[in-house]
Amino acid sequence: MIDFRPFYQQIATTSLSAWLETLPLQLKQWEKQTHGDYAKWAKIVSFLPNYPAEIDLREKVEAKLDSPLSEGETQRLVYHLKQLMPWRKGPYHLYGVHIDCEWRSDFKWDRVLPHLSPLKDRTILDVGCGSGYHMWRMVGEGAKMVVGIDPTELFLCQFEAVRKLLNNDRRANLIPLGIEQMQPLHAFDTVFSMGVLYHRKSPLDHLSQLKNQLVKGGELVLETLVIDGGVNDVLVPADRYAKMKNVYFIPSVAALINWLEKVGFKNVRCVDEAITTLEEQRKTDWLENESLIDFLDPNDHSKTIEGYPAPKRAVIIANNP
Ligand SMILES: C[S@@+](CC[C@H](N)C(=O)[O-])C[C@H]1O[C@@H](n2cnc3c(N)ncnc32)[C@H](O)[C@@H]1O
Repeated sequence: MIDFRPFYQQIATTSLSAWLETLPLQLKQWEKQTHGDYAKWAKIVSFLPNYPAEIDLREKVEAKLDSPLSEGETQRLVYHLKQLMPWRKGPYHLYGVHIDCEWRSDFKWDRVLPHLSPLKDRTILDVGCGSGYHMWRMVGEGAKMVVGIDPTELFLCQFEAVRKLLNNDRRANLIPLGIEQMQPLHAFDTVFSMGVLYHRKSPLDHLSQLKNQLVKGGELVLETLVIDGGVNDVLVPADRYAKMKNVYFIPSVAALINWLEKVGFKNVRCVDEAITTLEEQRKTDWLENESLIDFLDPNDHSKTIEGYPAPKRAVIIANNP
């Protein structure tokens, strides 16, 4: 099973130490009610080898050795990693194995990175971090410590698998809870919430929860689905959106800026808008499920299969005064 004690030790003498008041107990409770496959996934992580890798996190997430793995070693690695499918966010390049995930998360990173205050030496929270792809890129930018929070146990195990293959790097850690379960720490220099807001039933509460994790003057990086429109335009899908059951609010950029200002953020600005392309989200050998092509109207890719505007995403940056 995954051991969180090294993380507790790591934060004990940092600005995150107040978290020790609630986190160990919460994770004890969490361990009692994990997903039915969690033990199997965690065991796969324990079977992965430890290689003395050379690591590149600046340009991509890559680990390599001086001499390549044998064909047998590669097959074994692929076998274990495929037990952790579906791989949604990536790509990862691990000892010659290319985990070609459903999402080219590097495309999003390239849209976001140029607009950020430099991440060097910052303490960062990545809310809804998935398998942790962007966390490794934050480490690659020189972050002091990156904490991801994501309640999906499969993503925790994917993260721990990648961590093990990256020389067990402890500069990033994933805590398997939802943001709403996290005590307000007011301790992070940058908080990311990417691809989460539309999954929350109460978006203004989500924005307040993000604010409660930031230091004074800290930076919020919010990335979410948006629609075209004015300050009062918000799509609340009747049933599914792009076949997803758990999509609640898709605001216009103007509405989103209004929400952020209402909960007390300052200097709120939209730095990027992009339609999600079939190059960014697609089927690969690393997932069995459907992907974007199956979620769009086959005769008109500007609409979802339900007739809503096709996925368009915005990046908003704001400061906690
Ligand atoms: C669409 S993915 C986004 C992943 C990644 N941040 C990205 O931008 O590619 C949404 C993630 O949010 C996580 N999530 C859902 N509810 C959450 C919550 N209450 N708190 C934190 N994460 C949550 C999901 O498990 C999932 O990994």
